[in-house]
Amino acid sequence: MKNKVTKAIFPVAGLGTRFLPATKSIPKEILSLVDKPLIQYAIDEARAAGIREFIFVTSRGKGALEDYFDSAPQLESRLRKAGKEDLLKTLRQTTMESGAIAYVRQREALGLGHAVWCARRLIAREPFAVILPDDVIAAEKPCLQQMVEAYEETGGNMVAAMEVPPEQASQYGLIEPGSIKDRVIEVRNMVEKPAPKDAPSNIAVIGRYILTPAILRNLNRKFVGSGGEIQLTDAIAEEIRNGGKVTAYRFDGRRFDCGSKAGFLQAAVAFALERDDLRDELFTYLEGVVMARKAAQ
Ligand code: G1P
Repeated sequence: MKNKVTKAIFPVAGLGTRFLPATKSIPKEILSLVDKPLIQYAIDEARAAGIREFIFVTSRGKGALEDYFDSAPQLESRLRKAGKEDLLKTLRQTTMESGAIAYVRQREALGLGHAVWCARRLIAREPFAVILPDDVIAAEKPCLQQMVEAYEETGGNMVAAMEVPPEQASQYGLIEPGSIKDRVIEVRNMVEKPAPKDAPSNIAVIGRYILTPAILRNLNRKFVGSGGEIQLTDAIAEEIRNGGKVTAYRFDGRRFDCGSKAGFLQAAVAFALERDDLRDELFTYLEGVVMARKAAQ
């Protein structure tokens, strides 16, 4: 039987400069879509996939994340006294059992590969997941759960993937596809943000990975790649060259790039429209905005 995936690494060391001044004093991962922080979406998805141990790769100024996952006794007792059971339930989903969560600091911003490598001592011989909280994926069955189910068949290493418009492909890690079976694509090579002329396809890697410890060993070499950073993509590509298995999983769902302002706003609107308490009011407002814009044209 293959090892179960029970640990996930969340690289959250980035400065979030694209969201300044909001991120001057709060971590980007606490920014919320409606009322739920980006990091909570990532945690909920991990839990649904069977993850039990959560490893955060952080940096200076991310202390608010630790508080977010802690219990808040004063707040809880107030809510209890006020009989606000639904809010108490919401709060409980944010707290982590003692010992289920670990924080590792990335001392220098040397890239995603380096961030994952910083967690190496907390991973033993088992496969582990990596979740990039900037990539928020709305799906009936959460994306990582879809992958874990497919992974039970494939083993090896697996990345989430989706087709992107060719003119945007150079913003992503791209795969060179081999054989395809349902949603699982054999990966022959992976390249991080290549120049358009070198793009092996327009199938992009999205921020969900299930990886073997061999990837951490490859990262030990600290190879400097695209953008002068140590890239996770390069360590996975090396694994293919070493004869390891890598597949890409074309997930069912809608991905939002919450690392960009436009993507973040789209996600906020999409999630708000899913909510019974907000849908009608927001929809009426949006309709009004669209009508006013059309009338002005
Ligand atoms: C990272 C990965 C890239 C992937 C992308 C998905 O890049 O390095 O391979 O395609 O996430 O969001 P970043 O967007 O952090 O530069």
